[in-house]
Amino acid sequence: MSNIISYDERIKNFDWSISEKELDYQPGNVINIGWYCSDRICKLGKADKMALIWEGSQGQEKRYTYNELRLTSNGVGHFLRGLGIQPEDRVCLFMDKIPELYIGFLGVLKIGAIVQPLFSAFGDESLIVRLENAQTTAVITQRKHAPKLRKILDKMPYIKHIIIVDADPAKPLGDREVAFDMDHAFKPEDFEIHPTKAESPSVLHYTSGTTGQPKGVKHVHYSLISQYLTSKWVLDLLDTDIYWCTADPGWVTGTSYGIIGAFSNGVTQCVLDAGFSADNWYRFIEKHKITMWYSAPTAIRSLMKAGDEVIKKYDLSSLRHLASVGEPLNSEAVIWSEKVYGKAFLDTYWQTETGSIMITNFPGMKIKPGSMGKPFPGITATVIDADTFEPFDGPGKIGLIAIKPGWPSMMRTYWRNEETYNKKFKNGWYLPGDRSSIDNEGYFWFVGRDDDVINTGGHLVSPFEVESALLEHPAVAESAVVAKPDFVNMEVVKAFVTLKPGFVGSKDLDLEIMNFVRKKLSPLAMPQEIEFIDNLPKTRSGKIMRRILHAKEWGEEIGDTSTLEND
Ligand code: WT7
Repeated sequence: MSNIISYDERIKNFDWSISEKELDYQPGNVINIGWYCSDRICKLGKADKMALIWEGSQGQEKRYTYNELRLTSNGVGHFLRGLGIQPEDRVCLFMDKIPELYIGFLGVLKIGAIVQPLFSAFGDESLIVRLENAQTTAVITQRKHAPKLRKILDKMPYIKHIIIVDADPAKPLGDREVAFDMDHAFKPEDFEIHPTKAESPSVLHYTSGTTGQPKGVKHVHYSLISQYLTSKWVLDLLDTDIYWCTADPGWVTGTSYGIIGAFSNGVTQCVLDAGFSADNWYRFIEKHKITMWYSAPTAIRSLMKAGDEVIKKYDLSSLRHLASVGEPLNSEAVIWSEKVYGKAFLDTYWQTETGSIMITNFPGMKIKPGSMGKPFPGITATVIDADTFEPFDGPGKIGLIAIKPGWPSMMRTYWRNEETYNKKFKNGWYLPGDRSSIDNEGYFWFVGRDDDVINTGGHLVSPFEVESALLEHPAVAESAVVAKPDFVNMEVVKAFVTLKPGFVGSKDLDLEIMNFVRKKLSPLAMPQEIEFIDNLPKTRSGKIMRRILHAKEWGEEIGDTSTLEND
């Protein structure tokens, strides 16, 4: 069984109303993602179906049916309303991949508030810039993460509540803290869901750019129309599927497909909240009989590295469909997955701003390993000349990916940063900021990003944020941060640093600076390598030329250096 109808059939007469009809939504109606992901599935007769099977790092397990998802998220909504949270207030979710994160997400949406998911490994500096920009009213978190918030609380007068889902009753709560045990809270059977409409804001995801602070990508409830249908057609979700999306809901894959796409399709999904190991992942697939697996190239390359022998220890025959997102999926990984799992990982391309899959290896379509595939039905995408912003007249040329705006899950703006949002459009095209070519059969071949943002293991890191953090270290005079090639993560963060007088580069200082960044920002942003140098290459106007350092790392031609100061 599958939802697969040929790509050509799907694009013929495609209209987003196909999705609207399946969801019984009519333009102008109330549309609330929280309701669609729980109440509606119960109404369809699946109240007792398992919605979420969660496994923690100690092997502990928790299960929730769709009815429990519905009631527990009602409880979250009820509690938040009781605290005075209003529609469109920002409520941050700052948790590991625990059930409270998934259920909290739906509960916040049910009262019409805006969910702001933040990766739980973020340090205080990463947190404060994002909470400050969003002017967040409440943060739902775990007691182990609360100290990071306590440290910066004085600087955040807009935060009224820190809600701790696993508070220790024996310990006093801190300033503005309140305990909330989701499983044992009051769970109203009848809960008045806020009547959000298509354009009501839903999720605010932060993403990093080359310059400036991270941008808050504003999504709306209507995004469901895209997320539901792409989950059904690309991830091929069926009622019988046991689905595993390995992404963390601190990032967009973990919400668009790890929550909204999965639950709106009424599948059973499994979550593993534990660190990566090939054995543990294969054991998880075997134990839960995972059928659909959505993961990322870095994980796939790590599994490749772990080798073929370990695979033989497990029964992975339940797997029927695999897909990948976040970074280029190299052809070797596609071919390898076909060989060892009997199924090729299908590459999907999209980003935080697009909210759902844009270009994809549509199931059933011929796979060209190394290609991202073709635009999802209803998506008009091409490649345009970076100078003229016009599409090329023939195949094979490398240019900027350009997408015609207008699909349901497109971001509506960057939060309090309309100017940067407007810059993402040229000549009526939305530009995701990536380069690609298109071959003579319409397949897209990803080339690279069109900016200095580092994509490490599928996570975007801003060189600007890392450089700013480095400058706060007492030994650092100047810094330039670039990507360095890495087999597993594709790219890792590398920092070039000049030291202040009186400091000498050493292994200890190296480690100290790395740790400093890890604590302030996150383990992802931590430089994997620091190179102490005497001078950074700069333009005559004093701008640091990351391009030159980048080219050096990648063994590429340095190109035009006519504006270079110290050549
Ligand atoms: C950027 C978006 C979309 C969910 C996770 C990342 C890169 C994404 C692919 C792919 C090559 C890809 C792009 C994109 N990217 N998917 N299949 N092949 N590159 O979301 O953090 O917003 O990052 O990741 O550069 O713009 P994100």
